[in-house]
Amino acid sequence: MILFKKSDELKKYLIKKTAEGISIGFVPTMGALHEGHLFLVRTAKEKSGLVITSIFVNPTQFNDQQDYLHYPKTIDQDILLLEKSACDVLFLPDVQEIYPSGYVANHYALGSLETVLEGKYRPGHFQGVCQVVDRLLAIVMPSTLFLGQKDYQQCMVIERLIDLKQYATKLYVVPTMRENSGLAMSSRNLRLNEQDREKAAAIHAGLTHLKSRLQPGKVQPLCDDVAMSLLQAGFEKVDYISIANAQTLEPVEEWDGNTALVALAAVFLSGVRLIDNIPLT
Ligand code: PAF
Repeated sequence: MILFKKSDELKKYLIKKTAEGISIGFVPTMGALHEGHLFLVRTAKEKSGLVITSIFVNPTQFNDQQDYLHYPKTIDQDILLLEKSACDVLFLPDVQEIYPSGYVANHYALGSLETVLEGKYRPGHFQGVCQVVDRLLAIVMPSTLFLGQKDYQQCMVIERLIDLKQYATKLYVVPTMRENSGLAMSSRNLRLNEQDREKAAAIHAGLTHLKSRLQPGKVQPLCDDVAMSLLQAGFEKVDYISIANAQTLEPVEEWDGNTALVALAAVFLSGVRLIDNIPLT
């Protein structure tokens, strides 16, 4: 695996590879890598000639400074894991490399994606995600970008970004990897103790139960039941349990039996904010 810290050098290398006809698969991450990330890398390897992973904890996407400061950092282990996986190139920029002096933040027209669900509870978050992914796409210029479905809304936002900026990059969404308990793999799980990790499996169990009860008509009571059961199980806060249109993420109050739906959750356990989702139809 080749390590690049400077975007100019990386760019030169990748332009050469692209000119040789090699397709570039790109997996952007914030490090603290787990099996879910490695699954993205393996999928990227299956579908591309060369796989590049980036590790950059992007300060502009954290609306909570404490969350940024406590974001897990396991860089030595990350490098070992990537070396053992199929990753060909690691891009490890510093903040100055991504946001050089004189960098002017764009504003991205994300429409309602910015005001619903994660957009509502994490103001500014998706602008920050777009800033960094825009910079990374401009440097890497990948044929395909690989993202995890666990961040359902982020996938939709980045699809919008690709469209807005007319990048010649395809987005490939990779299914969520789960622990045996059903807990969605996430770097944030590292901040949970063993007992809490077991407890956190209730999120996926709740969404699965909701799915089993779904029928046309009013759907809000299903969400309220899951929220209530999580609070009773010891989760300290529920930002949302929501059933939304799978294409637009607009909340659905009453299901017509046809519209494709997704159920999404954002909850706090022992001070850690966890998100998950499952397609319902
Ligand atoms: O999902 C993440 O890890 C981050 O939001 C991303 C896409 C790497 C941008 O910082």
